[in-house]
Amino acid sequence: MASAPGRQVDLQPDPSPAGRPDILISADCIAARVRELGAEITRDYRGRPLRLIGVLKGAWIFLADLARAIDLDDLSIDFLGVATYGNGKQSSGEVRVTKDLDQSIEGIDVLLVEDILDTGITFQFLLTALRNRRPKSLRAVTLLDKPSRRTQPVKADYVGFAIPDKFVVGYGLDYAQNYRQLPDVRVLKP
Ligand code: IMP
Ligand code: MG
Repeated sequence: MASAPGRQVDLQPDPSPAGRPDILISADCIAARVRELGAEITRDYRGRPLRLIGVLKGAWIFLADLARAIDLDDLSIDFLGVATYGNGKQSSGEVRVTKDLDQSIEGIDVLLVEDILDTGITFQFLLTALRNRRPKSLRAVTLLDKPSRRTQPVKADYVGFAIPDKFVVGYGLDYAQNYRQLPDVRVLKP
């Protein structure tokens, strides 16, 4: 297992027309990497029931694609909602639960599905909260990782892409609740 630290992303984003965020990771590139992650997770959990827990709202598109790239018969899905960022680019450092799990995870193999691992504050909070509910096992997959920003000693078991310290949007990620619908991961212009 453990594809971390993830595929390294080119530091030069593709320029877009004025006003549009530049593409950092194209939709095709994301799709290819999601297929790889799905295959890896399939291998690691073969023969075991697995619960994916998507973190709302950022991980919804990633979870939808990842779930379809995992070839396991016994796969279930739940969501946990958290808010950290308010409406800006800087984390408030305060994690607020906006939606709890619908089902118990006690005694179940759980894979937390996150959009991006930044300072690690949200991740740390989520892992602690989920561990307290005594799953059989707990691992995490994140589409994006910004290792240079980490303040907490956490890492994901599966990482899609390691990216530089830039604020990105698209493929579920937002700035002030906008841009989530973009099919590529893009860098917000200052
Ligand atoms: P952390 O608690 O600092 O690790 O932040 C994690 C959360 O902040 C993520 O789940 C995102 O919702 C948000 N976040 C961090 N970096 C970015 C970014 O570059 N774009 C959009 N959201 C981000
Ligand atoms: Mg998030």
